[in-house]
Amino acid sequence: MKQPRRYAQIVGWGKYVPADVLTNDALALKVDTSDEWIRTRTGIRERHTASARESSATMAIRAAEQALDVANVDPAKIDMVIVATATPDYLFPATACLVQDALGAHKAGAFDLSAGCSGFVYGLAMAADGIAAGSYDTAMVIGSETLSRIVDWADRSTCVLFGDGAGAVVLAASESPCGVLATVLGADGSGADLLILPNSGFKDPVTPEARSAQMPYIRMNGNEVYRFATRAMGAVAQEALKKAGMGLEQVDLLIPHQANLRIIQSAARHLKLPDEKVFVNLDRYGNTSAASVPIALCEAVETGRLQPGNTVVLAAFGAGLTWGAAVVRWQPLPEEVRRSWWMRLLRWLRLRLAPWSSRVRRVGRHVDTVVGEATGDREQAKSTDRA
Ligand code: UT7
Repeated sequence: MKQPRRYAQIVGWGKYVPADVLTNDALALKVDTSDEWIRTRTGIRERHTASARESSATMAIRAAEQALDVANVDPAKIDMVIVATATPDYLFPATACLVQDALGAHKAGAFDLSAGCSGFVYGLAMAADGIAAGSYDTAMVIGSETLSRIVDWADRSTCVLFGDGAGAVVLAASESPCGVLATVLGADGSGADLLILPNSGFKDPVTPEARSAQMPYIRMNGNEVYRFATRAMGAVAQEALKKAGMGLEQVDLLIPHQANLRIIQSAARHLKLPDEKVFVNLDRYGNTSAASVPIALCEAVETGRLQPGNTVVLAAFGAGLTWGAAVVRWQPLPEEVRRSWWMRLLRWLRLRLAPWSSRVRRVGRHVDTVVGEATGDREQAKSTDRA
């Protein structure tokens, strides 16, 4: 018998931005720029920057907790945690593992995804495909970035563009045709050098002697990336719509990667979408890379720009070069499901207990090692006696 198609419904969403705000005027005191230049060339007015206590993992956890709260889902039900980031806490372990542990998502697999600013759309596609294939029922996709740590604050051509933050969604299997309807992903590694974090891997590792001269800071050919972006974003959105069997007239809202207002306006022109159908919030956050689309999605819901039954297109481009788009039918869960008090209580307990359960597992591993070593020693002593 033919199985009904499974859809990945977005049932929860959340965002987190650090409290510290860096305005254009404040930036102009550090580097040779002006509020006027930044606003007219990019549309950015201010951005948020992480404090010393914040990182991509801590911000991802805050956004994920909010998304779980909206979905009213028990973290132990999550099957997969994907964190899209260019600024992981460590190269390994994955930031996704730190998030999985903090949420008490014991059943979940977890991995980081590197696709630059397209990372969230890539993660959404991975999660939706996994759900559609029946590999998992519930997935968490997060975009989280601490770009302020990889920006050269003396380079005015890049430092004015970026900001920190995180956004998350919870996806759940559904049989009704809603959620992620189609995705398209693309890449062109011939443009790898156009937007790059040199000395950040192990090809040319930073040597202790040259540490300050070789700091891994974002290097970008802004004009080339701009040209690529104006072509890529509209084209990939159109391709995803075609794959979903839909036309531009069916789009209620476009949520583009928030890199530059002029790039967004060019994509909107290409798609012949009026301003009211295009979501923009980069004036307050700057470019938060993989976090920009989920933060914008979250704000579109919070401000009522996205209504149940709407069709929304998410489109992004970024380092790699990469690009991607997703067509989503917005259908949040009914209120009564989201209100269930016992599930709220269970989740609250799970999140509060997660650090303790993590400690218990650490102690358990330690005890295992000690017992294992003692047993090993005894057995070795016995075999020496016998010999
Ligand atoms: O997520 C993907 C990440 N990247 C992007 O999406 C970036 C795509 N590119 C862009 O958004 C734009 O290319 C930029 C915003 C980076 C640059 O804007 P632009 O209009 O292409 O400026 P430009 O690079 O052509 O520079 C024009 C002038 C130059 O001065 P001269 O040579 O004409 O005298 C720059 O030195 O503006 C100067 N300039 C600045 N002036 C004041 C460059 N940065 C600044 C600055 N403040 N921050």
